[in-house]
Amino acid sequence: MVREIVVYPDKRLKQVSKPVESFDEELHTLLDDMYDTMRAKNGVGLAAIQVGVDKRVLIINIPLEDIPEGEDEQPRENTLEMINPVIVEKDGSTKFQEGCLSVPGIYEEVERAKHIKVEYFDRHGKKHVIEDDDFLAIAMQHEIDHLEGRVFIEKLSFIKRKKFEKEWKKRKKAS
Ligand code: CO
Repeated sequence: MVREIVVYPDKRLKQVSKPVESFDEELHTLLDDMYDTMRAKNGVGLAAIQVGVDKRVLIINIPLEDIPEGEDEQPRENTLEMINPVIVEKDGSTKFQEGCLSVPGIYEEVERAKHIKVEYFDRHGKKHVIEDDDFLAIAMQHEIDHLEGRVFIEKLSFIKRKKFEKEWKKRKKAS
């Protein structure tokens, strides 16, 4: 089921999400709904707080490249579901143009660690470790930031941030 997306500057986006304690049906429904919502909005990742649930839950589904025409480039089974993720290693730095379903239509370059290692639990409570130094590393850092109440535009320089706030106000008025 597609849920409503919490849009910046909604205060909920500043909330620090709480750890998941039971890996139950409610969690599974949340994860399934998050996938449906992410697909409906053409996203590649989503944190639970973006649908108003303050739990340490995120999903990422990076579109497949070079797949036959008409085939799904973000199949459900390719979804990385991360519960209570913790970054245990990070190094290097890289810049990438990011976007966010909670700040629709805005794309800005953000600096992040190049390589990260993350420990997390899957929907059944099994622990996993994942490492990446490519787009997935950036996506994981972006989504984990949401669990800490941070949105990517807060990482912009002062000037760029001011420009963004002006542009955002203009858009809000127009819509
Ligand atoms: Co986001």
